Amino acid sequence: MSGLRVLVACEFSATVRDAFRARGFDAWSCDLLPTEGDPRWHIQGDALPWLDDPANRWDLLIAHPPCNHLAASGAQYWPLKKADGRQQAAINFFLGLMKAPVRHIAVENPVGIMGSVFRKADQIVQPWQFGDPYNKKTCLWLRNLPKLVPTKIVTPTHNWGTNSYRSGSRKKSVLPSLKWGSQDRAKSFPGIAAAMAEQWGNHLQPLDNRSGSEPYARQSAAGVGASFHASELAQ
Ligand SMILES: C[S@@+](CC[C@H](N)C(=O)[O-])C[C@H]1O[C@@H](n2cnc3c(N)ncnc32)[C@H](O)[C@@H]1O
Repeated sequence: MSGLRVLVACEFSATVRDAFRARGFDAWSCDLLPTEGDPRWHIQGDALPWLDDPANRWDLLIAHPPCNHLAASGAQYWPLKKADGRQQAAINFFLGLMKAPVRHIAVENPVGIMGSVFRKADQIVQPWQFGDPYNKKTCLWLRNLPKLVPTKIVTPTHNWGTNSYRSGSRKKSVLPSLKWGSQDRAKSFPGIAAAMAEQWGNHLQPLDNRSGSEPYARQSAAGVGASFHASELAQ
């Protein structure tokens, strides 16, 4: 097993975690929910304190924070969510992950408000670029990681969820939509998970020769749960 430690935050499905474990990484998932996978490598609870705990050193953080107050598909509710604080809380959580004391970070979300209050995503990927025949625009904000390279381009047969076509293009799609419950719809795609494990895993592997990663400081003095100003993180 590699000495490199990976935390997949906001993941109950174990999809990305298990893709890294299959390649020999010491990968863990963390979610408020119990995992659908093997519970031995799952932390049930809030991810932020685990990232700040000096006793836990993580080499790579991949996070899938909730998008229900951030995604463009729900933009008609933003005025209400701004007014009652739900959107700011979701922004703070996203930025808390992005700002974690971990050298390599990827935070994923659909097209939405983070592209303007934080910064443009480094990359937008689609499941159909990685062998899963679905449309679902997924933005990736990266720190010290290369962009993912498509592994297997297939023709999309469906939109993932009824509102997928609204995530970005705002044009009505000609493809039929798959109607999942919200929990199934939120699960990561196996093809993208495999590409993360292979490509980012290979990117990190040379670090494994070191005796351990140096501690990496949080990006500002603000502590867990603090309200960050998005411009602090723009780079
Ligand atoms: C959009 S879903 C991502 C699901 C993921 N793609 C998967 O395959 O399991 C967001 C997840 O974030 C979790 N979550 C919300 N707040 C959290 C927190 N403070 N710490 C850890 N997980 C959290 C939710 O329970 C939910 O499962």
